[in-house]
Amino acid sequence: MLQRLWSGSLTAEMLSPRLQKVLKLQRSSNRHRVVQRGPRGRRRSGSQLYCELKRRTRIRTVDGTQEPFSALGWARLVPSLPLQELRTSQYQSCAVVTSAGAVLNSSLGREIDSHDAVLRFNAAPTRGFERDVGNKTTFRIINSQIVARPQHEFSHSALYQDVTLLLWDPAQYAVNLTKWFQKPDFDLFSAYVERRRLRPEQPFYILHPEFIWSLWDLIQDNSEDQIQPNPPSSGFTGILMMMSLCREVSVYEFLPSLRRSDLCHYYERYEDAACTLGAYHPLLFEKLLIQRINEGGRDALRTKGKVTLRGFRTLRC
Ligand code: C5P
Repeated sequence: MLQRLWSGSLTAEMLSPRLQKVLKLQRSSNRHRVVQRGPRGRRRSGSQLYCELKRRTRIRTVDGTQEPFSALGWARLVPSLPLQELRTSQYQSCAVVTSAGAVLNSSLGREIDSHDAVLRFNAAPTRGFERDVGNKTTFRIINSQIVARPQHEFSHSALYQDVTLLLWDPAQYAVNLTKWFQKPDFDLFSAYVERRRLRPEQPFYILHPEFIWSLWDLIQDNSEDQIQPNPPSSGFTGILMMMSLCREVSVYEFLPSLRRSDLCHYYERYEDAACTLGAYHPLLFEKLLIQRINEGGRDALRTKGKVTLRGFRTLRC
């Protein structure tokens, strides 16, 4: 399985019967009403794929210029510096640290912290895991469950302070912001408004659902199989975001190392192979796509679960 993932020859038919069944179920339920477009699966070379990703990745956040947000005064609520303007900033090297259990016992902490910026996800802690994951956090992508569910203690926990926060929630594929505002998956909007009022100095953005779905289109257009009709994982969104912001991106344990196990997260005792290979999210296809543009060596992949990617601004397309 690992060898096949590393070489890009893993297909959905090779997944366990349970994961194949979930994939079929997700395809048929299509809860976000995704409209499939053809043709798909064009075998672009690595450099063609890089250019395609660069051309089609346009970071977008809810900026308060569209209804219903404009009427609610969100243009003054959101941070005045747009996220995409960070692009011209200082980041040379960036690290994306997935939450996979395989990061345990990796001793990658120091290497991760040596990057100019580090992206982490959801409730993934650094405290107590410094040796393996480091302790620097610059960005954190969180889903709407994190801000809506009391157990995550969004308003108090140190995890969500002193970092740039990116929040997302799945809207329908044919994005209607008013409908999304009225009925998000989890109520992210009240928590966002409250946090912006309490901590206006903290850079905190909501990723635009059209940005999320444009990444889904990218994955589907470059996959031969029909992928899950659900938003990409936070990990994939984060990787593309960092490729937009940094000159070089190191991604840890997205493509799993030899340490791969069914342990879902390094900070929890829950086991499920779906966390690595996908159930709701089209994770397998995301991973196959990233595999195709990996510029790092096989050894770094085997021992560190490390993929090296070029930032968009270094590409001549
Ligand atoms: O589970 P969660 O979304 O918080 O994890 C952050 C990201 O790390 C995921 O979106 C996924 O891209 C990646 N991940 C993974 N394998 C795992 C767990 C997480 O690739 N076992």
